[in-house]
Amino acid sequence: MYDAVDKLDREGVVAFISGLQQPDGSFAGDRWGEVDVRFAYCALSALTILDALDSIDVDACVGWILRCMNYEGSFGPVPRAESHAAYVFCAVQALALVDALRAVDVDQLGWWLCERQTPSGGFNGRPEKAPDVCYSWWILSALATIDRVHWIDVEKLAEFILAAQDEDGGIADRPGDVPDVFHTFFGLAGLSLMRRVDLAPIHCVYALPLEVVQKMKLPPILPIYDSR
Ligand code: FPP
Ligand code: ZN
Repeated sequence: MYDAVDKLDREGVVAFISGLQQPDGSFAGDRWGEVDVRFAYCALSALTILDALDSIDVDACVGWILRCMNYEGSFGPVPRAESHAAYVFCAVQALALVDALRAVDVDQLGWWLCERQTPSGGFNGRPEKAPDVCYSWWILSALATIDRVHWIDVEKLAEFILAAQDEDGGIADRPGDVPDVFHTFFGLAGLSLMRRVDLAPIHCVYALPLEVVQKMKLPPILPIYDSR
């Protein structure tokens, strides 16, 4: 809400989100009941901003997220599902929000994440898949949170994102494709985190401008990645 959180029906929003927590600690996205780690991240992000973590069972949520961890130290969308880098973002940043990252083997996870960098410089989301600009954010921000950005080639990643720019503006999922607003946001977010271009710095957990997050006066547990 960018400086306008006080305009929200705070109690209503908190009741809505906490009402989506399931008995096993997971979160559904809405009343129809789809469950995966995206919704746990969204719930924890919103509830930390609203200072309302006490409205849910945080330990149960952490326990459920850790059940999404696989043998290679990475995370899938739900327990026993294939690891996928976009869900690693959700799991790692959700755990960071509640200071629960100590349960993660950051070297093993960092290794799986940096193996996602392809010869083009771009990241794929899982083994043998094509690189895609949006993973620049999902993976880079997770590496920032676990302090393993130095394990990848940031120059080549920046080159891949910049090569996916369209001559008329916007960024595509990969060079040569048609740009869209989703990949434009995640391309800019990745470039901002790498501090490779003159962009406002972004917070690696919230994906909001750092300045906005700092004004929110959140608990000092959150990492603030600074590549300089
Ligand atoms: C395509 O999967 C999916 C993506 C490219 C990213 C989806 C993003 C998330 C799950 C994270 C959303 C986060 C929030 C906070 C809402 P695919 O398996 O078709 O793509 P692939 O070919 O790259 O593997
Ligand atoms: Zn994408």
